[in-house]
Amino acid sequence: MNRISIIRFLQLAAILFFIIFEASCTPRTIDYDQVSPEEKLIIRFPHVTGENTPKGLAAKRFKELVEAKSGGKVEVQVFPNSSLYSDYEEIDQLKKGHIQIIAPQTAKFSNIIPEAQLFDLPYLFQNNKEVWELADGPVGKELGHLFEKKGYKLLAIWDNGFKQITNSKKPIKKPADFFGLNFRIVSSQVIANQFELVGADSSVLAFNELYQALEQGKFQGEENTVSNINNKKLYTLQKYMTKSDHGYLGYFIVTDKKFWDSIPRDTRKMLEDTLTEVTDWERTTAVQMEQDQYAQLQKQPELTIHELTSEEKKSWKASFHDAYNAYISSINNNVIKDYVKKKEQRVP
Ligand code: LMR
Repeated sequence: MNRISIIRFLQLAAILFFIIFEASCTPRTIDYDQVSPEEKLIIRFPHVTGENTPKGLAAKRFKELVEAKSGGKVEVQVFPNSSLYSDYEEIDQLKKGHIQIIAPQTAKFSNIIPEAQLFDLPYLFQNNKEVWELADGPVGKELGHLFEKKGYKLLAIWDNGFKQITNSKKPIKKPADFFGLNFRIVSSQVIANQFELVGADSSVLAFNELYQALEQGKFQGEENTVSNINNKKLYTLQKYMTKSDHGYLGYFIVTDKKFWDSIPRDTRKMLEDTLTEVTDWERTTAVQMEQDQYAQLQKQPELTIHELTSEEKKSWKASFHDAYNAYISSINNNVIKDYVKKKEQRVP
């Protein structure tokens, strides 16, 4: 080796040493594209609300945690705002395997699991704590069995909040004020009964079509949570809101059972643990958002809000009471029936 070759050899060795040293000191950044497609588990998770809602934020948090914990082996693709499917389409698409997790309002599963309509019973829950106790207790477990019988897996129940009534015609304070108005509802016989009992009409419409339908005057009113009324700017079309807290709106986080069982055990455990963590976070977030966004709605100049007094609530409860009898006689499950019967006693 002559002198020039020795110098070149030493230069190359120095560069090589520098590269190896740098690589060992720099923390490994995850490059998802470097994980081979066969190794990567992709979970498509569409939903219908905006990103800045309890469901939207929780889906995003689930994605971020899962991708970080799995080192890029699991990718969660979240599609908010019905950008992939509307709420009724997503239930079909889950079974076809085109998507892997969905989070529809509990009522939207009522065709498949009629018992799910217990969440729609007017004034069933007095506060969020009662909902969480139900979700984490024997009724939640029973619902899990019903989902499994139909080939699904119920992964969690997330909150949105309590429902309020909005409409474009007049303040609604007493049950008689509903008479003759037409409301947009989600697919639940219990909710259809609720409106029928106070002399109002109702029909089912997907969430992504709601704003336009209200704008075109196809419905005079609807019921929804503070978060959805705020996020979808429904208050720009609905001049009157009654803070009635008459019903609850939550979500079933659901996957296809066969798909879920096909995931390797340790990955599945990581996903389930992450969902538990996100569910706790989602519950606190939903309560906080409901308070903050109600304060925002109160500042909207175009919206007139009436908060029901406790006397007014009593007469709403009495008017809706028959929805309980209809629900109880329509289902066949003792665990759920007993729960509803117990709660019914405090509804006049
Ligand atoms: C609705 O259709 O009004 C709600 O279910 C939307 C949602 O997912 O909160």
